[in-house]
Amino acid sequence: MKKIVIANFKMNKTPSETKQYLISFLSKYEDCKADLIFALPYTSLAVANFMLEGRQIALGAQDVCEDDEKGCTGQISGKMLAGSGVSYVLVGHSERRAKFKEDSKMINRKIKNGLKNRLSIILCVGESLADKNTMKTLATLKNQIEEALKGLYENELENIIIAYEPVWAIGSGKTPLPKDIENAVKAIRKVVEEDFSQKAANEIRIVYGGSINAKNVSKFATIEGLDGILVGGASLDSNLFLQIINAMV
Ligand code: 13P
Repeated sequence: MKKIVIANFKMNKTPSETKQYLISFLSKYEDCKADLIFALPYTSLAVANFMLEGRQIALGAQDVCEDDEKGCTGQISGKMLAGSGVSYVLVGHSERRAKFKEDSKMINRKIKNGLKNRLSIILCVGESLADKNTMKTLATLKNQIEEALKGLYENELENIIIAYEPVWAIGSGKTPLPKDIENAVKAIRKVVEEDFSQKAANEIRIVYGGSINAKNVSKFATIEGLDGILVGGASLDSNLFLQIINAMV
């Protein structure tokens, strides 16, 4: 199986900066090395969709509205994303949970709406520093996953990737020990097994995100049960991101 590598640009790059980035990146990247996804700001989706035409690289968005109502000024629906060449969407990123007060019910609705519009979901989960310090990591993961996947059919899980992103590791330069990531991955599969089936638990794809860079990436390439990575800050430099991808494949 190819490794999944996801870039999350967060709130970075104008459309012309994204274009420059992709010109440089695409001139050096060999398709098919990894299952590669660029999760970009809405404003960069059109230019990226044009530039990725014919390449085996998927386009992602960083959020989706939880419903399709037309009276939602400022929001972007799943249908609009699907019509813009987007095939993946991040849901439940900790920055959105914290800054925009996204709760588990809203996250569940966003997932259902994304799936309804044939988008694949990258569901972000992870413990806070307080959870970690009070040994509540696994309980937090269980709760976040159960709430997020409530009411889904088992066959819909093929269109879901779970991203384990400890909140304390995002943008901090700190990363968990490989053993701790392995334990979190096992715990995530166990929750999926309890709520769905052993088969679903074996097949669900899980990636890790949080302070991955070109220097530390190799330690994430060999973690048992881990299907790939989600990279924030270090994906913004095309050369560094290429190094990261090359270390994973
Ligand atoms: P950093 O790689 O910048 O820590 O961000 C991780 C992240 O939040 C990806 O979604």
